[in-house]
Amino acid sequence: MSGGLQITNASKSFGALTVLNDISLSVDPGGFLVLLGESGCGKSTLLRMISGLEDKHEGTIEIAGRDVTHLDPKDRNIAMVFQSYALYPHMSVFENIAFGMKIRRHAKADIKAEVGRVADILKLTDYLHRKPGQLSGGQRQRVAIGRAMVRKPDLFLFDEPLSNLDAKLRAEMRTEIKRIHQVLGATIAYVTHDQVEAMTLADKIVLLNAGRIEQLGTPEDLYMHPDTLFAARFIGSPQINAIEVTVHVSDDTLTAYVGDIALALPRNAARGIVIHGQTAILGVRPENLTLSDTGPIVTRGHGVGLCEPMGSETSVVLDFAGAALRMRVPGLVKLSQDSTQSVSWDMSGCHLFDPETGAHL
Ligand SMILES: Nc1ncnc2c1ncn2[C@@H]1O[C@H](COP(=O)(O)OP(=O)(O)OP(=O)(O)O)[C@@H](O)[C@H]1O
Ligand SMILES: [Mg+2]
Repeated sequence: MSGGLQITNASKSFGALTVLNDISLSVDPGGFLVLLGESGCGKSTLLRMISGLEDKHEGTIEIAGRDVTHLDPKDRNIAMVFQSYALYPHMSVFENIAFGMKIRRHAKADIKAEVGRVADILKLTDYLHRKPGQLSGGQRQRVAIGRAMVRKPDLFLFDEPLSNLDAKLRAEMRTEIKRIHQVLGATIAYVTHDQVEAMTLADKIVLLNAGRIEQLGTPEDLYMHPDTLFAARFIGSPQINAIEVTVHVSDDTLTAYVGDIALALPRNAARGIVIHGQTAILGVRPENLTLSDTGPIVTRGHGVGLCEPMGSETSVVLDFAGAALRMRVPGLVKLSQDSTQSVSWDMSGCHLFDPETGAHL
């Protein structure tokens, strides 16, 4: 059983540039943490900090209950898999996986048993004699993971390991990594900028924004209960609709106005106090909008923009009060450019955000 990970008040600067700002988080033993965020937000730097490759920083790192802040990477009992994993082309799969044990002079029988165990988990048993050049991209990726696994590390670190693979292989490897995680019960910290990867793999996501934690929570937390407009926009595809509204409050009811169109909101659209007449950003997920004959709202202006068939559903973009309104509609839908369309809104999961700060109201 591997241990957990604890990061406390970690900050990192390159000269005058602060790239990580006071990061604290913890992962339980066996947990799957995904570091998510856009390019340049500090994901790899944080992972490198955990690994010991980024030595000069503030804060402490504990792995499996041990303070490793001042230890070399090799003394941290971690394993890393990077985007650009280089396998030894002249060595067989067996030799590639065995390499680390061999240079540490483990007994031949031990190496054979350990490589066998790892190959079995990774479904590489039939490929052990092959060279990397004779493998598919996904199989090569599994060998790279296998090399990391033979060491029984306390913590696995992955930095965008799937980004070189095509869409189908990525999806397959995602399932594979999830399975490996379950079989090994290992603790994993995994970097990606892909929200689908984050949602499917993580039991905890840390969403980074310009070196700070924007939100930390389960995939469901981030999707259903975003703390900020940034978080709401980052998770979900097509992106959440963010509509500027004026909020009217009377007794205990909330109504959002877009021009003279009134949208009734549940009270929990805001977490705190809303001031009558205040401007806000209304967040509504595309799947909570449906085309209807009787919906309360007719899209005005020039009506239908775009229909993108995606197989079981259609992504529809309508013009709503001059702004794009994204919807996910079941089945194959075709709308003509110049028609107007009623839309019914399911507001049960909507959110109100502060237009200045982006914080959930
Ligand atoms: N050695 C360095 N010297 C100076 N700045 C650096 C150095 N390494 C990284 N940075 C900067 O730190 C910031 C964070 O970089 P990092 O590689 O952690 O981003 P990232 O989130 O992994 O991005 P990506 O998704 O593009 O890989 C960036 O602005 C980057 O330019
Ligand atoms: Mg990176």
